[in-house]
Amino acid sequence: MSRTSGKNLFASKVGAVLAAAGSAVGLGNVWRFPTETGANGGAAFILIYIFFMFLLATPIMVTEFAIGRHGGSTVADSFHKMGGGRRGWKWMGLVPVVGGFLVLSYYSVVAGWTLHYFFEALKGGFMHKGAADYSLDFAAFSTDPVQPVIWTALIIIATCAIVVLGVQQGIERASRIMMPILFILLIVLAVCSLTLPNASQGLRFLFEPDFSKVTSSVVISAMGQALFSLSVGLGCLCTYACYFRKDTDLMKNGLSVAGIDTSVALLSGVIIFPAVYSIPNLQPDAGPSLVFITLPNVFQQVFGNVPFLAYISSLFFYLLLVLAALTSTISMLEMTAVYFHKKFNLSRLHSSTFVGTVCLLFGTFCSLSFGAWKDVTIFGLGFFDFFDFLVAKFIMPIGGMLMCVFLGWVVDEKVLRAEMTNNGTIRCPLYSIYRFIIRYLAPLCIMLVFANELGMFSFLK
Ligand code: PFF
Repeated sequence: MSRTSGKNLFASKVGAVLAAAGSAVGLGNVWRFPTETGANGGAAFILIYIFFMFLLATPIMVTEFAIGRHGGSTVADSFHKMGGGRRGWKWMGLVPVVGGFLVLSYYSVVAGWTLHYFFEALKGGFMHKGAADYSLDFAAFSTDPVQPVIWTALIIIATCAIVVLGVQQGIERASRIMMPILFILLIVLAVCSLTLPNASQGLRFLFEPDFSKVTSSVVISAMGQALFSLSVGLGCLCTYACYFRKDTDLMKNGLSVAGIDTSVALLSGVIIFPAVYSIPNLQPDAGPSLVFITLPNVFQQVFGNVPFLAYISSLFFYLLLVLAALTSTISMLEMTAVYFHKKFNLSRLHSSTFVGTVCLLFGTFCSLSFGAWKDVTIFGLGFFDFFDFLVAKFIMPIGGMLMCVFLGWVVDEKVLRAEMTNNGTIRCPLYSIYRFIIRYLAPLCIMLVFANELGMFSFLK
């Protein structure tokens, strides 16, 4: 069992926050959040999402931090060691392996789309087109059997290249460079969006709740979105926490990451919905194609008279998506690759190449499920939707619940207190509330939402 050495720790506290925030901030914020918000009626969904974000996802994130840093090794070893050698918990080590393969496989397909769109924007490929062209272009591209797979492969290769460089030179450095650029792009685009005609209608959709639209599926989607957005339940953050220094304040780190992640999601909403409402006949519930069909059309129509603005806004927007995607794919690959790296003594290069290759194979299936394999289904879902369902609605909530039960009930409380207070050297004012949440509220909440979904118990229509 190898413990993490000094060179394999994040060099600074800021680096640790940025790396965890890099994992959290991704297509989940800029692509999935607007899609889900649009599909689930807007502001009421957002309020429930924020509730789950701080009362459920953040405590689970802090729990992953505590398990990861205390264990200091692979997730399986951490559970084995902290569970007092109880064999059953060692199986939790498989969650990041299976979850990592699944999530990276389908996520890198959409990340590949963003890379393709970035290059299209760079070439000026969106200029002088009509509304219908964007929709036809997206349909032709996403259903093509070859092109999207090539872009997926490029994303996976870029991700492998960063992961191979290691914790400080790869993950931390990439997060330190990419996260500030991402923030600047977000703010510039949000300010532009707010100046568009009818921007206030988009803001109303985002911030004026209509609770009559809340159904059980809205609640479940909000929970899934909060967990997905913070990357919790798969053990990804356990893996990153292995690289935290002993003086990192886990609670503060968790709250900072949740704050950054929520702000990015809301800012993405502020970019996208005012833009959508600025053109008659566009709908906020356009679904996953919102950022690939609706937005290029918006940039073109709104800034059509000033071609430079149309060019630069779409270029910035897709650069934002690519950077957000990469900081997350890095964390997905790391959590799975590190398992093979430590368990089988493979080099970083070999373990990352192995995981990347398998993910490219599964990613190809996911990509084909939009076109040639549209009719191939598992439980009625195509590969892409099935992988997303398994990860966001199944493995993440169950994984998160088991982690809370483990740290709240199985592990000696002294360990938890020592982790939250850095062995008594700092105060953790939220400790009692946090412990209450992971022992009672989080497991209960997840079980209720599940029971409701399975129809065993109904608390919402
Ligand atoms: N949180 C990421 C996003 O919002 O895009 C997605 C993600 C990253 C999910 C890492 C799971 C994971 F382990």
